[in-house]
Amino acid sequence: MTITFCNGKGGAGKTTLSILMGCALADVGRRVAFLDRDPQQTATRWIRETKPSIVIAEPGGSYDALIIDTPPRLDSSLVHESLAQADKVMLVSSPSPADLWTSQDTVSVIRAHYKKDKAALLFNQVQRQTLLARELTPLAERIGLPALNHQIARRQCYQHAMVLGWKALDGPAREEILQVALELTTF
Ligand SMILES: Nc1ncnc2c1ncn2[C@@H]1O[C@H](COP(=O)(O)OP(=O)(O)OP(=O)(O)O)[C@@H](O)[C@H]1O
Ligand SMILES: [Mg+2]
Repeated sequence: MTITFCNGKGGAGKTTLSILMGCALADVGRRVAFLDRDPQQTATRWIRETKPSIVIAEPGGSYDALIIDTPPRLDSSLVHESLAQADKVMLVSSPSPADLWTSQDTVSVIRAHYKKDKAALLFNQVQRQTLLARELTPLAERIGLPALNHQIARRQCYQHAMVLGWKALDGPAREEILQVALELTTF
């Protein structure tokens, strides 16, 4: 299964969530490989420095899951190819209006290059008890992609995870990452 994480906007959380989803799947025994298509190579550095139980994908390698991280661009062939080869696509977006506008543009690019029906919106940096957090379903409808039932909250430990790896996550963070990973593999 190949899962591509995308959004034309920078800082949406593509790299953070793609790596952590990979860690979660590896944690439950899957062989997970990572393909870093972003020239910034943030994910590659993260993997080299924190040594999670996921590997950098090798040509011809055989894995249970291949996770692809993409650059924050809509006009890049790296993004288009990553969409075309995906079994599933995760559009990572915060629920803030400015981010959702870019996400709408990203949906057009997904539709142009991804021809299967397993694309979903993964809300990130959700602040529970806020007005926006209560509006996620209508927001997703406006974007034009179904949203996963589970979301990721804004938590400082996700920032620490870039240097400390999976062990930086506290209990609630681990739980929500595992829930999203499970939903991701079954939706
Ligand atoms: N749920 C979250 N809670 C708190 N901080 C977060 C969360 N998700 C991401 N971040 C932080 O937001 C910043 C941007 O995240 P990340 O690098 O994953 O985004 P990106 O979409 O890959 O960005 P780019 O488009 O530049 O590659 C990072 O500092 C990361 O630690
Ligand atoms: Mg990134």
